[in-house]
Amino acid sequence: MKPSISDVQEYLSLEPLTTRIQTHQRYSEFPEDVERTVQQAVSLSEDADLLDVGCGTGAFLRNLAQRGHRGRLVGLDTSPAAVHALHDVAGVSAQLGNAMGLPYDAAAFDVVTARHMLYHVPNVRRALAECRRVLRSEGVFAAVVNRPGTTPQVSALVAELVTSAGIDIPVVPNSRVNSDNLPEMIASTFGAVAVHQYDNALVFDRPEPVIAFAAAQLSFYGVEPDSALRPELTRAIGAKVRAWFASEVGPWRDPKGYVVCTARQGQQG
Ligand SMILES: C[S@@+](CC[C@H](N)C(=O)[O-])C[C@H]1O[C@@H](n2cnc3c(N)ncnc32)[C@H](O)[C@@H]1O
Repeated sequence: MKPSISDVQEYLSLEPLTTRIQTHQRYSEFPEDVERTVQQAVSLSEDADLLDVGCGTGAFLRNLAQRGHRGRLVGLDTSPAAVHALHDVAGVSAQLGNAMGLPYDAAAFDVVTARHMLYHVPNVRRALAECRRVLRSEGVFAAVVNRPGTTPQVSALVAELVTSAGIDIPVVPNSRVNSDNLPEMIASTFGAVAVHQYDNALVFDRPEPVIAFAAAQLSFYGVEPDSALRPELTRAIGAKVRAWFASEVGPWRDPKGYVVCTARQGQQG
């Protein structure tokens, strides 16, 4: 299998990421608020200095700043678009950088978060060691990853169409790093890990949001953002999903779930 598509390329535009996030916000069977779940998992105090690794759209840090967070808020991402998304947010600084070599002094933060980003990091253990290094004594780390095989129906549809277009599917990010293997990696870096699981499903009663969500996954299946095959594949996704809704009774229900793993600096000697 060839390696996954360049992450820098996938996140040059934040549009597919935004579509995926909005789909989870709008179409989850039970209300889903990953930001709040993470804040609760780390018992975030208003004075905590927080680093968000792989900050993406920046919504997590922006919302904290707008709610009056008093500690330092720092975002880091390999994507220039992600850094730009935070450039004018008062109370937040954002920096281009890589989780595998954090550009911060040791013991600089009280909290380090890595939400839905470790899938993309080539050396996860090195990134975890970096997160631990920049945490103060008793500082808290939180990582969010999906369960393996989350939203299987959408995944199967995209995989089938991409394969029929003759594209060699790479290792899909969520099959590389997920709730099955991340807790052990965190435990071996920090000495212990706590895992909280949140199960849910995406439920769609019409084709359009399924089509948008499926098309927003194409990069992970080896279709480059600028590939000439994209329009054709998006049409093929549309045709399949519309045919499904025409032939089935009831909504499209795709199970999903994520875990929040937390660990504390200082648990390992
Ligand atoms: C799936 S998005 C998640 C964004 C955000 N954390 C969220 O949960 O909405 C993954 C993010 O990680 C970033 N990323 C990928 N590899 C990275 C790395 N090695 N170091 C830092 N950021 C990385 C991507 O550019 C992207 O913004």
